[in-house]
This record gives sequence, structure tokens and C-alpha cells, in this order.
Amino acid sequence: MKITVVDRRTGRKKCASVVFDEKIRENRFVVSNGKELLVIKAPKRADMTMRKWIILVRTIIQEAKKYNLKCIEIVWKDLVNFDNLDSELGQIFAEAVYMAHYEFRKYKTPPKEGFGDVAEVVVIAPKNTKTLKRQNIKKGITIATQVNFCRDLANTPGCDMTPARFVGAVRKAIKGTKIKMRVLDEKQMKRKKMHGVLAVGQGSKNQSRFIILEYIGANPRQKPVCLIGKGVTFDTGGIDTKPHPHALDMMMDMSGGAATVATIITVAKLKLKKNIVVLIPTVENMPGGSSFKPGDIVKMMDGTHVEIGHTDAEGRLILADALTYAKMYKPCTVIDVATLTGAAMVALGERASAIFTDDDDLAQKTLETAESVGDYAWRLPLWDEYSTEITGNVGDISNIRTKGQPGYGGAITAAVFLKHFAKEHKQWMHIDIAPTMTAVFDEQLAKGAKGSPVRLLVKLLEQ
Ligand code: BES
Ligand code: MN
Ligand code: ZN
Repeated sequence: MKITVVDRRTGRKKCASVVFDEKIRENRFVVSNGKELLVIKAPKRADMTMRKWIILVRTIIQEAKKYNLKCIEIVWKDLVNFDNLDSELGQIFAEAVYMAHYEFRKYKTPPKEGFGDVAEVVVIAPKNTKTLKRQNIKKGITIATQVNFCRDLANTPGCDMTPARFVGAVRKAIKGTKIKMRVLDEKQMKRKKMHGVLAVGQGSKNQSRFIILEYIGANPRQKPVCLIGKGVTFDTGGIDTKPHPHALDMMMDMSGGAATVATIITVAKLKLKKNIVVLIPTVENMPGGSSFKPGDIVKMMDGTHVEIGHTDAEGRLILADALTYAKMYKPCTVIDVATLTGAAMVALGERASAIFTDDDDLAQKTLETAESVGDYAWRLPLWDEYSTEITGNVGDISNIRTKGQPGYGGAITAAVFLKHFAKEHKQWMHIDIAPTMTAVFDEQLAKGAKGSPVRLLVKLLEQ
């Protein structure tokens, strides 16, 4: 798939044109190959928003795929003939095109006639069009390619995505970049007392790993930003096993880890002058003879005694040790990204990640950035009062709520658990991406992993 910009119609016969139909009142695009093939409705001019525009561009690509159009030609002036659009449209356009075109095909035998791919999108725009700079398109493609790589990693089923295979996929992906990689195995983690990670992984025959990626794009003495990603390659729930169908999507429980990998690769490809560290504890949460159990006490890397109230609340345990490990970098900012709680989905549905931070400026900046890139987010509270709800009965703290009704405010409970281990960090934010793990039916994306919040993280780091 490629995007080509030309300044006048190519007149190529093989290319279907997407033209704005101005004759009728209702805004619509007509796609034609000489004859009218299909009609795509667009919002009224003044009703357009960036959110709707992204969906419109994706719809054009998805429809073109459905109709097996190999090439489509779009008149840029028509596509941007709306109010309320912002300026970096070229980048947003390229991201929408590439993300809409993506499908997870690793296990699909190609049909004889081939997949319905759009090979080329031709955009007709005068040279030096302000809203369509070539470098913006290029940047959009770089970002969307990594968003799609993140989706590939997350969509890969548990049988082919164990902690060791995850390590292999990351090693392969960073080839040719300036990113340095180190991996701790269980023996090394034991030496570092990372018992939170080890406890969760101890029921699986697939050994746990701890992935460390470093990108030095600025002065090496400059404090890095640390990204931490949840890397549970499959979450059965452990001894507190998930009932059907709740485990079905749990091959995507390493989506946070995948997003942080995709983000650091993007940063390296865009050659951003930033220092970034990525930490990914990666484990498989399985029931078995050697699994950790409800009631167990786990002495975490920082010495905290955690009482296991539920073996399905595993993400916070592995992230906690990563938050402790991160301290040695003295990072200016720490952001963890995790498909952490079903409760975040109960609170927000499937259209926004939940963000948690005590830093109001960072929260504000994140919400604005989320809106502008299309990785939507919403803030939930992290007040100290909530911290009193996880005090342990025997241990210091519990990995679930011990006061009042269990389960209430579960996304916040998980966040304050992490906060306990993030106290020493100057600036910390937790992003619960469980709500945005998979694409929603009307988002004009392939079913399965959505690749959030790669676009958000990249733009935050850019700023
Ligand atoms: N990985 C799950 C959360 C999840 C659920 C993500 C659905 C995406 C879709 C997490 O490890 C989990 O199981 N959380 C439990 C915690 C509970 C036992 C306190 C939950 O949310 O039910
Ligand atoms: Mn779980
Ligand atoms: Zn999980």
C-alpha cells in the first residue's frame, strides 16, 4: 500500500475516483469506476469534527477494500471541504489510511484471487498545499506502521506468543534501529528479588522474562522518560480462572507491552531527541501445580508484602516490580500502559482509555493530545482516600479491594495499588487501556487489537 500525491488527475483507467457530490444537498462521496459504484455519506460541512473525519477517511479505505478496488484517487480539496478541521491533516490522513487498511492475516491462507488490498491511494492536491505536506504523510505512515505492528503482536494467539517468543519478536523488530535491548531471565530476576513478576509466572512452563529497551536520542545525561508495558502473553486468571468467554481475548493482555515497543521504535525512526527506557515484565498467567495461590504473600522487589486476594489481578503485580526497577534510571516521567481492569471497561465502555495521575498538568496535556491524535482517554481519580481500601489483612497491602464491597471502583483500586510503588517517581501516570484493547464495531478498523495508545504516546513524547 502506498500514498501518492499528484497535482492533477492521472486519468489512469485502473484507478477508481472518489469525488464529492455537490449536486445534491446531502454531503456524500461517490466512488466510481466510470459508473457509480458506491456512495459514502459524510457529515454536513459545519458538523465535521476531527473524530468524524478520521472515520470518514477510514470508511473510504474499508469500502474500497470491500469492492476490491486496487487503486483509488481522492481530490484533497473535496476531502477537506469541511469546517473544524485542524492543520496536521496529512499525518492524520496517512494514519487513518494505513490503520483502516490493516488486517491480521498471519493464519489466513490467501484466496486464489488474492486479498482485497488497496495497492495505491492517489491524492490530487496542488503542490505546497498547507494541509498536506509530504513530510507529514511520511510521518503518519511511520507511526501507523508501528500501530499496526503493535496490533500484530497483540493479535498473535498465546500458542505463538509466549514470553520467550515476545522477546524474539521485539529483538527482530528493533534491528536496524539505535535501540539497545537487554532481557532478564527468571534466574536474574530472582537475584533482583522481582518476586511480583516471578509469582505470576510461576504456574506456567513458559518462563517469564523482563525486557529492557533503551533509546538515547539526547544527551545521555538527560533524564529519560520511562514507559512500562504490561506483558501478560496470556491471562487465564490463574487459580482464580476466568470463566468462558472471558479468557478469549486474553492473548491481547500484552497490548500495553506491545504499545510501548511500537512507541520506542517509532521514536527511534523519527529520530526524536529524547531518551527513552521501556520496561516490559512478560509472563503467562496459568493455573497449575506450581501457581501462586489466593492468600499467598508475595514479597515484592521493594520489600512490600502483598497479600494475594485474587490471582486474576496479576497485571498490577508485575507492573509494581517494573515501577521499582525504574527507580534506578531516575526518570523525569514514568508512564505505565496496561490492559489492567475489566472495571475500566465498566466505567468507560470501549471508547476511551482511563488515565490516572496526581499531576494535573500532565493529565490535561494527555487529554488534549489524546483528542488530537484519536487515541481517546478520560481521567479517573487517584485520591489518597482510595489507598486505604487496599490495606492487607496479614500483609502490607492486598492486590484487590479489602474494604467495603469488593469490586467497586476496580480500575481505581488497581491504580492506587500501582501508586504505592510509584511514590518516589517525580511524575507518574497510569493508562488503563483495557477499554481500548480491541476495535469497536463502528470504528472502521479490522476486528481485534486496536493498537492504542501508540499514537498518543508518540505525540506526548514529541512534546
Ligand atoms: N487482563 C485483565 C483485565 C482485562 C479484562 C483486560 C478484559 C481487557 C479485557 C486483568 O488481568 C484482570 O483480570 N483484572 C481483573 C481484576 C480483578 C480480579 C480484581 C478484572 O478486571 O476483573
Ligand atoms: Mn487477570
Ligand atoms: Zn491481565
